[in-house]
Amino acid sequence: MPGHRSIRTVDDVLALLDELFEPAADRWSTGAGASWWDGFYADRDREVPFFAARPDENLVSYLDRGLLAPGRALDLGCGPGRNALHLAAAGFTVDAVDLAPAAIDWATERAGAAGAGDRIRFHLGDAFTLADLSGPYDLIYDSGCLHHLPPHRRVSYRALLDRSLAPGGHLGLTCFAAGAMGSEVPDADLYRQGRLDGGLAFTREDLRWIFADLTEVELRRMHDEPAGSTCFGEPFLWTALFRRAA
Ligand SMILES: C[S@@+](CC[C@H](N)C(=O)[O-])C[C@H]1O[C@@H](n2cnc3c(N)ncnc32)[C@H](O)[C@@H]1O
Repeated sequence: MPGHRSIRTVDDVLALLDELFEPAADRWSTGAGASWWDGFYADRDREVPFFAARPDENLVSYLDRGLLAPGRALDLGCGPGRNALHLAAAGFTVDAVDLAPAAIDWATERAGAAGAGDRIRFHLGDAFTLADLSGPYDLIYDSGCLHHLPPHRRVSYRALLDRSLAPGGHLGLTCFAAGAMGSEVPDADLYRQGRLDGGLAFTREDLRWIFADLTEVELRRMHDEPAGSTCFGEPFLWTALFRRAA
């Protein structure tokens, strides 16, 4: 790169905007390797609701109601792999990606113990730039990643959907619901403050607008699942299922 003129492409702009947030401190990183999340996953015995190997209640419900049929799935920001495991058990072939080595290690161990190692391929790195995430996927599932991304990375997120979601395929996601969890600081002000404040809140309308290219199948709050339930559910999250045109 010559001198001080570092901007030539859209990717250069996105990388520059990344630097306005402190990745290691902000639950966000573009690179594989040490991240805030590695420390988060270091103690597996902590009382974190999504550490238990229970799938999202909405994902279970989509499958039970036949809204999703087995095929190829991408678990985006898979963490310790609880939803990837459920998708594999439901007959999907799964690519599961996370940027935290500690998450991939834990998820790989879980998949081995469940005998699902041959149906899930784990990938360490940034979901938006990894070359070996080769769709088309019938399902891209994101539980809790979108709200940790800086606003400009929604461009990368939508580009991933464009290139990797099969015609007729689905996007399923959960994210912080405005008024219940997450920062309500407007996008532009996030750049001025240089912090994501632990995650961003979305309204129903925000999600409809961001994914306006897709058809809404279902958009509702997550059910509150008690600790002993076989499913994970927290009412401060939206759950959404969108479908791409066939
Ligand atoms: C709230 S955790 C949820 C983990 C998992 N989906 C679950 O629900 O159990 C968010 C995860 O997204 C991952 N993540 C954030 N940005 C990412 C990126 N650009 N590429 C891949 N993973 C990412 C983090 O490392 C973290 O494990």
